[in-house]
Amino acid sequence: MDPVRPQPAVVAEAVRILRAGGLVAFPTETVYGLGASALDEGAVRRVFAAKGRPLGHPLIAHVEGEEPARSLARAWPEMASRLARAFWPGPLTLVVDRAMHVPDVVSGGGESIAVRVPAHPVALAIIEGLGGPVAAPSANRHQQVSPTLAAHVIAQLGEHVDLVLDAGPCATGIESSVIDVRGKTARVLRLGAAPLRELREIVGDLEMLDENAGEGVGRASPGMGARHYAPQARLRIVDTLADARSAVQDLSAAGRRAGVIVREEPSAHAWPEGTVVRALGSTPEDYARLLYATLHDLDDAGVRAIVVVRVPRDETWSAIADRLRRAGH
Ligand code: TXA
Ligand code: MG
Repeated sequence: MDPVRPQPAVVAEAVRILRAGGLVAFPTETVYGLGASALDEGAVRRVFAAKGRPLGHPLIAHVEGEEPARSLARAWPEMASRLARAFWPGPLTLVVDRAMHVPDVVSGGGESIAVRVPAHPVALAIIEGLGGPVAAPSANRHQQVSPTLAAHVIAQLGEHVDLVLDAGPCATGIESSVIDVRGKTARVLRLGAAPLRELREIVGDLEMLDENAGEGVGRASPGMGARHYAPQARLRIVDTLADARSAVQDLSAAGRRAGVIVREEPSAHAWPEGTVVRALGSTPEDYARLLYATLHDLDDAGVRAIVVVRVPRDETWSAIADRLRRAGH
């Protein structure tokens, strides 16, 4: 469908399905989501079943604006208002206390609720048409790579979804940042597309979850297990291009074809035959836009291993480094 001016007839069909308790996959600016009416407990349960996702992993409620977000919350901290005004519509998810009328299955049985206003005309059109929140995780099977194209959704979830809205590739390519605003200091539960520098400009201090907290991370944000976002091929991170070359040569000697992910295409490359080399770009924005699609492509190309040259340690790359680490776990 038209990503800028969604056809009303298609939107109406999506809304009809959501009202009937069905599942609609739809594009957002970050990744494709698997949507259900958030106030329909049965429909939300179907989302968990379709993904193979444990019931304890909460979903994000997608809404049209700050007011409808607030109506899902028992309390709306001042910090939530400031962040909402600065980032919405956009790739920021806020975790607040859940209002009584929101089914607890949306929150994985917890007391909180995650809310976000997506910056995509198609997503906004179906939320507006439904006239209520759309609960949607990324439209992938549990622990697999998130979809940035409708084809990725169909490949992973095809028969479990009533309708897939295809509006082309997602512009951002990695998921929203998830921030808990219930405490005095904002806590980053998931690094994502909202830049940390811009978040700090709004909230001052940011508490970071310790990357190595393991189970602790699991408790704060139940969806954030260490293994996540993983392709079928084994993914390994190396420090330099030379390391990538020798890793690929070893794999090739063992009869295994590899994919290589770099930022910029190296000028002279003598990779073993059959190696698939992908350059994703020198900025975090370009790299993020192509990352998941590349992982899907390399899986489709049947490579046995994916070797990724480490991205800069700079904070602007932290969300990408996080996803690569999880994909390689
Ligand atoms: O960009 C995105 O956020 C995409 C698009 C579709 O909006 N959605 C997405 O949803 O990535 P999902 O379910 O794949 O990831 C949501 C993340 C999980 O890590 C989950 O644990 C966390 O948000 N989360 C959701 N609700 C939460 C809550 N109430 N408390 C803590 N963490 C929560
Ligand atoms: Mg996900």
